[in-house]
This record gives sequence, C-alpha cells and structure tokens, in this order.
Amino acid sequence: MIDLREEIVKILKKEIDLPEEEIREGVEVPKDEQMGDYSFPVFKLAKVFKKAPNLIAEEIAGKLEKGKFFEKIEPVAAYINFFVDQKSLTSEVLKEIYDKKELYGHSDLGKGKTVIVEFSSTNIAKPFHIGHLRSTVIGNSLYHIYKALGYDTIAINHLGDYGTQFGMLIAAFKMWGNKEEIEKDPINNFLDLYVRFNKLQEEDPSKRDLARDWFKKLEDGDEEAVELWQWMKDLSLKEFNKVYDLLGITFDSYNGEAFYSDKMPAIVEELKEKKLLKLDDGAQIVDLEEFGMTPSIVIKSNGTSTYLTRDLAAAKYRKDTYKFYKNIYVVGQEQKLHFRQWKKILELMGYDWANDCIHVDFGLISTEDMALSTRKGNVLFLEDVLNKAIEKTKEIIEQRNPNLENKDEVAKDVGIGAVIFQDLFNQRIKDYVFSWDRTLSFEGETGPYVQYTYARISSLLDKGKFNVDDNYNPDLLNSSEERALVKSLYDFPETIIDASEKYEPFFISRQLIEIARNFNKYYNQSPILVEDEELKKAKLALCYSVKNVIKCGLELLGINSPERM
Ligand code: ARG
Repeated sequence: MIDLREEIVKILKKEIDLPEEEIREGVEVPKDEQMGDYSFPVFKLAKVFKKAPNLIAEEIAGKLEKGKFFEKIEPVAAYINFFVDQKSLTSEVLKEIYDKKELYGHSDLGKGKTVIVEFSSTNIAKPFHIGHLRSTVIGNSLYHIYKALGYDTIAINHLGDYGTQFGMLIAAFKMWGNKEEIEKDPINNFLDLYVRFNKLQEEDPSKRDLARDWFKKLEDGDEEAVELWQWMKDLSLKEFNKVYDLLGITFDSYNGEAFYSDKMPAIVEELKEKKLLKLDDGAQIVDLEEFGMTPSIVIKSNGTSTYLTRDLAAAKYRKDTYKFYKNIYVVGQEQKLHFRQWKKILELMGYDWANDCIHVDFGLISTEDMALSTRKGNVLFLEDVLNKAIEKTKEIIEQRNPNLENKDEVAKDVGIGAVIFQDLFNQRIKDYVFSWDRTLSFEGETGPYVQYTYARISSLLDKGKFNVDDNYNPDLLNSSEERALVKSLYDFPETIIDASEKYEPFFISRQLIEIARNFNKYYNQSPILVEDEELKKAKLALCYSVKNVIKCGLELLGINSPERM
C-alpha cells in the first residue's frame, strides 16, 4: 500500500540535501489538523541555507511538486505542511482493505525469524488468580501481533511446576489426602493441604524433613513421587484450561520449570568453567556487585537449584531449539531484578543473544470489590471474574436487546472481550483498578463500545444489501468525517508495527477507539442508507472497510467480533 511518509521523502529529497533516513525521521504529525496531515520542520537546514527558518520553509515549499497524494503543500513558520489528497488516499486505502480484508496490516516483515512469547506461566497446584490476567492477555496479544507480521511465533507457558512446595504437597497428601475428594475441587484442596502442612511445619520443624525428602525423591525420579506430581499437574492444567478456553488461548509448549531440571547441571558446569561462580556461605553465587545488583544464587547451600538456574537453562535451551530472533518474557515488574540479574549472567557467559531476551513487564491490577466472587481466602480466581463478566453482560443484553439470537455466545464474546480490552487499553507499565462499570460499559473507551460499532456496521451492511462485488466510486466520499475515518484506517497498519516494536498492545486498542469514534461521528452526522444508489454504494464500501479493520484489530488483542449485539 501507499506509504505517505515515503512519498514525502521522495518529494523533499529533490530539494533538500539530507540523507533520506534523516528526512524520513524528521516527518511529524502535527497536533493541529489545520496544519496538515504531516509536516517537516526545517530547523536543521538553517546552517546550509543561512536564512531564518520561516524563509527556508517558504523557499523550499515553493519549489516542491505535490504529486498524486497531496492536495497542497504549505509553509507555516518553520514548517512545511503536507495536506493529503482525500480522493487518492481513499481509493488506495479501500482498495487495500478490499484486497486483504481482515488481514489488513498483516505482512511478511518477520519472515524467517522466530519470536518466542512466554506468557501466563501459571503455578501448578496454585490458584490461577486475577493477578495472572495481565501476563496472559498481554502475552497473547503480542503473540498475535508478531504472527500477523509474519514472524514464526511460539507461545510458551513456562509452568511453575518445580520446587520444594511439591515436596510439601506430596507429604501433606500422604498424611491427609484423598484423591477422590481432591478431584472435586483440586486447586482449593491443594491450597488447603499446603496451608495445613505449613502450619504443621511451624509447630513441628522436624516435619520439614518430610517435605525435603519427598522433593528429593521427586528429583531422583521416584515412581510414587513422580506419579503424584504428574497427577497434580494434570489436574491443575485441566482447571487452567477452563480459563484458557474462555479466553481462546492456546500454547505451543508447556515446558515449565521441571522440564529444565535435567538441563541444570550442564549450566552450573558451564558457569564454573567460565569462572563465574563464587562460594558464599555454602551457596554458589554469581557476584553482580560491580553491576550494582545483589548476588544471584545458583545453587543453595543445601545443594538445590533455584528459579534463576532454571531460567538460565531455559534461555539456553530455547536458543538451541528455536534459534530465536527474540525471546520475550511477559512477567510482572516485581520480577525486574530477577530478569536483570539473569540477563547480565547470560552476558557474562558470553552470549551475545542475551540482548534478544526481553523482559516485558507490566503494572499491578487491583480490584474495587475483592469480596465479589472470592472463593476462599483473599484470592480472586480469574475463572470467576470471567464468568461474572459473561453473566453481567448477559443481563445488559437482556435489557438492551432481549430478542437477540445466540445470546449466550454473544455475552461470552462481549464479557470476555471487555475484560481483555480494559487490560490492554493503557500503557502496560501503568497500574489499574479493575472496575466492572468501566469494563462493561457500552460507551467510552471500552471493548463493548468497539464491538458494538462492529455489530452496528454489520447490520447496516445487511440492511443496505451490501455486496462486496459491487463497484463503488471512492471519489464520492469527500466529507470531513469521511476524511478523518479513512485517515484512521490508513494509520492502522503502522500501529501494528509500533505495537511490536514497543511490546505495547495498547497502540492497537487506542487506534481501534479512534476508528470507532470516527465511525460513530460519521454515522451520527449523515445517513448511510441514502436514496442515491451510487452514493450509498460508496458509503457502504467505506463501512465494510471499517468493519474489516475493526475485526483485524480485535483479533490482534485476542477478542472476538460478534455480528450482532
Ligand atoms: N510462574 C512464575 C510466577 O507465577 C512466573 C514465571 C515467569 N517466567 C520465567 N521464565 N521466569 O511468578
């Protein structure tokens, strides 16, 4: 498709003696639309021209040829402003969307490159709680974004399925557990066993040995220990998959911490060979003082490995197995230090690909009403939150549109979509408060608002008997509302690239809001289904284009687009 910045570079380079790259970087989008769609500041040229910037802008602008895509080029103060030609742009953009439909903006930019996105990474035998929402939806969106850009994309769930707590669980199960009972409500029962054993340990420290022994057995491959651990893992995954199913998420690999247990000795050996290990109070550590960080423990004084050791082994395994171009970890900011230490150690080991390992962190989520749908303790299960969202959406639909077909399916798409959209609407590093009212509102910057716009267009196309094979004349789309709408569609593909470069799905959610708002303004300002058949066809062609772009954008966020709401 036409690249307007590139067109501007072509026009400018005839008159300006700067490297193309520099011209391209100089092109800005003015805040005030009166100043055009793009502008180029000329300050940099003052040295060469030896003139006041406004005179330079005037001189250059006077000589430029505007070409096919610009209606006018004007100097204002130190800027040269470019006004896009509406007709040419509309015809280009619509043609491109008709061609690619909901794959508009997809490309083969990443062809031949592998991107790993590790996300969700839940902990076996522990609740999949609301705190995991963020990693799960941010990661899933990044996965779709990279895929859309043609990367070979691998989704990994680095399960927390290793550690002394499994020794505790097995010991507790041996004392008090009953398989049948546990299977009725696995996670809560595991939680109970865990809490109960912890208490016992505190009262009677000798019980710690019991847990340690079971963990040792597990590590050594003892049949009973492994069987129980596998049973816990299967049960937990069955529970977790209920959430992944609701969210429509699948993984390519569930290789978690335990998977790396037999790969750790080699890493420890390598660290030793590279003289990176130091003995400290019986533990083997990597001293990171000169890099301003606390030391990292690789082997504890009791001889066991750590979370960090497993992450070192995992990184190396992933490089060997996938030859990744990027290896992304979507994990909360509370693990920032861990990932800084880990990356530094990979660097010290001499791995230049350490730089391709990226910790994508994010802020905290808190809730207004913890009481709502809590099961036990203070844990808010994500499954309960999602089901509540569906239920509440169903109530809203009953009021707004009681005759809607497939109410349950729509309530699911909208309820879940609302929760995802709210999470992805801000820069990921920002904390946010989960609010039912804001999340589920059909107005404002929400998922339901975007989905509703989509459904509105869908029924408009039906009412207007839209046919994709009909010819249309894009020149008839010349109002200022149509101009703004087309421009926001034009900008969409770039937001996918921006999102991938900054690991920020919110570029896409914001652009979707922009498009939906522009559409609704357009829709409210003048009727679409007009008498004039030619005009109606052109307008419907634009509606159809908007519909495809919304669908594409929602898919990149991991959200479905129901045809009716
Ligand atoms: N399971 C961990 C947790 O819930 C997150 C794992 C993050 N990934 C990693 N490779 N360390 O905190």
